[in-house]
Amino acid sequence: MFMGDENLRGAGEKILMTPEQMEILVKCSQDIFEFVKYFYICTPKGFEPMPLRDYQERMIRGLMCDIPEKPHRIVMVGRQAGKTTIATLILTWWALFNKDKSIFMLAQVKGQALEALSRIRDAYQKLPMWMQQGVVKWSSDTIELENGCKLRASANVRGKTIDYLFIDEYAHIPNKEAEAFNSSTLPALASRPDARMIIVSTPLGMNHFYDMWQKSINNQNNILPIKIQWYDIPGRDEAWKKQMIALTSEKQFAQEFECLDGDTEVEVCDDNGFEKKMSLKELYELEMIQNT
Ligand SMILES: Nc1ncnc2c1ncn2[C@@H]1O[C@H](COP(=O)(O)OP(=O)(O)O)[C@@H](O)[C@H]1O
Ligand SMILES: [Mg+2]
Repeated sequence: MFMGDENLRGAGEKILMTPEQMEILVKCSQDIFEFVKYFYICTPKGFEPMPLRDYQERMIRGLMCDIPEKPHRIVMVGRQAGKTTIATLILTWWALFNKDKSIFMLAQVKGQALEALSRIRDAYQKLPMWMQQGVVKWSSDTIELENGCKLRASANVRGKTIDYLFIDEYAHIPNKEAEAFNSSTLPALASRPDARMIIVSTPLGMNHFYDMWQKSINNQNNILPIKIQWYDIPGRDEAWKKQMIALTSEKQFAQEFECLDGDTEVEVCDDNGFEKKMSLKELYELEMIQNT
């Protein structure tokens, strides 16, 4: 055990495995959909192995498939879709079944990255001991494993060497941080053939996430775009949409749930209650004018 924690395998700790366990371990290392059967998350029913939803399965397939000319991925998906949960699953799988990799979880603020890492710690402690790698370091922002993989959570990756990077809610990362990332970390990462980057976000106006998404859908980079629709998520139908618009606004719904791009026309009510069509771009511009 690691530092008296009986749920963690210590570095150098030998564990006898049955042939069945060996077989499972090999399968899990080759297939994340086998591994997910052992990956616990907190659901309304309590802690249980993650019951993958159809769209989450599609999302993972899109994220994990091997396309040499498009090694990186960008996913546009509405709010509360289980994005961070997918991140924790993928990061844990990367860390367990690789060797000597530097793996980062980048989020808008450090607290968010740490919260994701704490979910990873909970899931890791629930893995069977024979599936775990021995733990070398176990702190609030770092998990270091005996296979040489280091998993770190951060709000800033400047100057770091990174093999695998997961960026959660990229659109919400402050502009300054995103610019620094785009000018230094991204080119270094993109130039390494075996590095991987996954960006997942809800859109937030026409900012750096929007730009990267546009470049990806126009085939101007080596990032494969993936979009998950709001109605893919169970329980979200027209009635739910109406309710959400009443709680927020057409624009907010179009942006945060429908993930529409700037040229898409949406129907909005003007101050006099008349419905009219406007592009999302015009709406953003209008909002910027109103806010200045
Ligand atoms: N497949 C799933 N089944 C059950 N609960 C899930 C599933 N995926 C995510 N959750 C739960 O839904 C909640 C929100 O997930 P989260 O990943 O934080 O969403 P997001 O990052 O998109 O806002 C969390 O409590 C998480 O454990
Ligand atoms: Mg999240």
